[in-house]
Amino acid sequence: MEKKTIFSGIQPSGLITLGNYLGALKQFVELQEEFECYFCIVNQHAITVPQDPATLRQNMRNLAALYLAVGLDPQKASLFIQSEVPAHAQLGWIMMCTSYVGELERMTQYKDKSQGRGETIPGGLLVYPPLMAADILLYQAHYVPVGEDQRQHIELTRDLAERFNNRYGEVFTIPEIRTPKFGARIMSLQEPTKKMSKSDPNQGAFISMLDDPKLVEKKIKRAQTDSDNQIRFDKENKPGVSNLMTMLSACTGQSMEEMEQAYHGKGYGALKADVAEAVVNLLQPIQERFNNWMESKKLDDVLDDGAAKANQRANETLRKAEQVMGL
Ligand code: ADP
Ligand code: NA
Repeated sequence: MEKKTIFSGIQPSGLITLGNYLGALKQFVELQEEFECYFCIVNQHAITVPQDPATLRQNMRNLAALYLAVGLDPQKASLFIQSEVPAHAQLGWIMMCTSYVGELERMTQYKDKSQGRGETIPGGLLVYPPLMAADILLYQAHYVPVGEDQRQHIELTRDLAERFNNRYGEVFTIPEIRTPKFGARIMSLQEPTKKMSKSDPNQGAFISMLDDPKLVEKKIKRAQTDSDNQIRFDKENKPGVSNLMTMLSACTGQSMEEMEQAYHGKGYGALKADVAEAVVNLLQPIQERFNNWMESKKLDDVLDDGAAKANQRANETLRKAEQVMGL
């Protein structure tokens, strides 16, 4: 039987966070054993808001090295940069033409990111989801491993694929979302009702995969909690504590009930110390491998090979889509 296909991407819009790892990357590593995998560095999504060119290039390299450092194996998964596969922009245009402005304006990420920008909302923010749909559909992906924040975009991708297939014939596989059991939505350490994001201007709000142990400890120590000093999983009333528990359970596999029992009668200091230790233990070997990859000349070869494989698969799908449309 032919292997099913996986596609996912991460934006090189900053240093990858623990949220990106627990929500997305960690799943990638498990999935590469079983599926045909394409993991992309989505730099065209990153430019939907202005980026400093030198920083963007550095972030792309960092992300490539991190993909490898967390355990992605270029023999098993194609790792590549979005702008090196022109079919993304080409099918992206077709998907934009398949979408309606009304449905794009309803996307919550668009609403969040465009807030307060008045007349200067970048057009790219609005048409980001059809480009993301193209990313996924080009590979005929069956599953898309992402964090919870991407659910609405995946639903739109399915709608656009179905709309296209109904109009022109069966070209696209309809993809399904895959979210992890623990860690699908890691929250900001400073405002735990908001998701942890690498583009947060407050550096204390997120843990970067490259933070050193001291910094990790400091950020977790300062993480916002509440004043009752009781360790109980209750996202609504105790978002900060629940977020720390989620991080710990994603790192160690402990359930919320087990943690509630283990920390009974103990305060937030004990929980924070354990979360910091678990995160440091998770990051240390990844950071060692990251440093080795950054020094290695093989990084560019990996990305070149990945782009070659991705171009081949993506162009097949693009040709089919263009053909049925009469282009
Ligand atoms: P960011 O918002 O940090 O820039 P991206 O948009 O590049 O992240 O998303 C990359 C992947 O990481 C996606 O699969 C997304 O769902 C996941 N992700 C992002 N933030 C979080 C989070 N706070 N918790 C869990 N997963 C997340
Ligand atoms: Na994002």
